[in-house]
Amino acid sequence: MQTQTWRVDAEEPDAEIIAQSAERLRRGELVAFPTETVYGLGANAQDAGAVARIFAAKGRPSRNPLIVHVPDATAARAIVAEWPDEAERLAERFWPGPLTLVLPRRDTIPDIVTGGGATVGVRVPAHPVALALLRAARIPVAAPSANRSLQISPTRAEHVLHSLGGLIPLILDGGPTSGGLESTVLRLGEGRPQLLRPGLLTPAEIEAVIGPILRPEALTLATDDSPLPAPGMLSRHYAPRAPLELHTNGAARVRTLLQAGRRVGWLTFAASLPADPALLVQRMPTEPAAYSARLYAALHELDAANVEAIVVDIPPHGEDWLAVHDRLQRAATAENSPN
Ligand code: TXA
Ligand code: MG
Repeated sequence: MQTQTWRVDAEEPDAEIIAQSAERLRRGELVAFPTETVYGLGANAQDAGAVARIFAAKGRPSRNPLIVHVPDATAARAIVAEWPDEAERLAERFWPGPLTLVLPRRDTIPDIVTGGGATVGVRVPAHPVALALLRAARIPVAAPSANRSLQISPTRAEHVLHSLGGLIPLILDGGPTSGGLESTVLRLGEGRPQLLRPGLLTPAEIEAVIGPILRPEALTLATDDSPLPAPGMLSRHYAPRAPLELHTNGAARVRTLLQAGRRVGWLTFAASLPADPALLVQRMPTEPAAYSARLYAALHELDAANVEAIVVDIPPHGEDWLAVHDRLQRAATAENSPN
C-alpha cells in the first residue's frame, strides 16, 4: 500500500483537505492525524471492519481497547450509558484537552473498540486539525497512537510514516504535536475515580475539580538505579529499539559504556558533557511539561541515529512527573506485555 502524506496548516486547516479526509473516515478508511498529545490512527468507531484495520496495521493485541475521539461533550454523551456529575465537571474544565474518561458504554460502539468490555474511553482532543476532522466526519473516531504496537508514540508525521508507512493510506501532517505524551486516562463510575494511565493532565489538576482519585498500585516514581517495580506490574511499551536504562548518576554509566566501545544516547540534565563522537546527547528540560513535549522526539532521534544503548538521568520526583516516570519505566522494562 502506498502511504500519502497531506500537509495541513495546524492552526487553520484547509477545509477541502479536512472534507476529503473526513469522507475517507466515513467510508471506513484509516486516517492518521495530529492531536495535541501524539498522532492518532483514526477509524470510524461505528464500523467494526474499519476498526479491525487499525489493529492489523498496528499489530495490536485485540483485547487492548481504543479511545474514541469526539468533537464535544454532547457527542461523548451519545456513546456512553452514564454521564455522572464528575464527567460533566471534568469535561467542562478540561475538554478539549488531554483527558480520556472511561465510562459505561452504549451498544452503538462495537465490541472491537472496547476489547469486549462494558466501558468505553472517550476524549475531545484540543488540536485544531483533530477537531475540524471530527466535526466534518460527524462520526465518533477510534484512534490509538499512530505507531506499531509497543513502539514509541509519534509526535511528528515523519514518525508515523517511519512506523506505519506502507501499512496505512493517509497521514495528515500538521507538524509536531505540542504535548508530546498521551492523554491521562481516568475511569469514572462506581466508587472513587481511578487513574488508569498517567498522562499530560496531572492528578492534582483532576483532584482540584472532583476531589481524591485512586492511583494504580504499580505506579511509582523511579528513585534509584534499579527502579523497576515487581515483574509483570509494568509491561514494556513506548520503547525505543536500543535498551534504555534509568540512572541517578547517568554520567558514570555513560562513561562505562563509552569505554566499552558502545554508541550511547544520553537524556540528561547535566551541564558539562564529555565530548565523544560515540555519544549523542539530548539535553532535557527541567520542567515536566517541557520534558514531556521533548521525550518521545528525543527517543525517536536516538533510534534514528542507531545508538546501542540509551541512558536516562532519572527526572525529578513529584506527581507532576508521574507520566514521565511511567513512560520511562515502561521503556526500560525488558518484558513484553503478555496480552
Ligand atoms: O493521547 C492519547 O490518548 C492518544 C491520542 C491519539 O488521543 N491516544 C492513545 O491511544 O494514546 P492508545 O490506544 O495508544 O492508548 C489508549 C489507552 C490504553 O492504555 C488503553 O488500555 C486505555 O487507553 N483504554 C482505552 N479504552 C479503555 C477502556 N474502555 N477501559 C480501560 N482502558 C482503556
Ligand atoms: Mg499507544
